[in-house]
Amino acid sequence: MAKEHVWYKLEESYLPLVENEIRVITVNGKKLCCTLYQGQLFAFAFKCPHAGGIMSDGFIDAAGNVVCPLHRYKFSLKNGYNSSGEGYYLKTYPIEQRADGPWLGMEKSGWLW
Ligand code: FES
Repeated sequence: MAKEHVWYKLEESYLPLVENEIRVITVNGKKLCCTLYQGQLFAFAFKCPHAGGIMSDGFIDAAGNVVCPLHRYKFSLKNGYNSSGEGYYLKTYPIEQRADGPWLGMEKSGWLW
């Protein structure tokens, strides 16, 4: 089943303007990283799932991975897959381009059925 998301409009003045720039943004009180890669926005967790490296201090490689500054583990911007093979997973967030600008989806949590 597809996960349900709550969508938040992104403040465009906070978004990255140049390719591969990583900006820290706050959405619904949560710090995230946002980058522009091949003309598309991608959002992912502020901290590395390995040992808490600050992902905005890392960089984007030519294959579309964000590389952690601490131990250089790589994660796909598209799905958080740990493409350097250490078995971690970086949380990523979908971004939709709508008529009024980009919106970011966060999974709904706290459902009690
Ligand atoms: S903290 Fe990110 S790779 Fe180790």
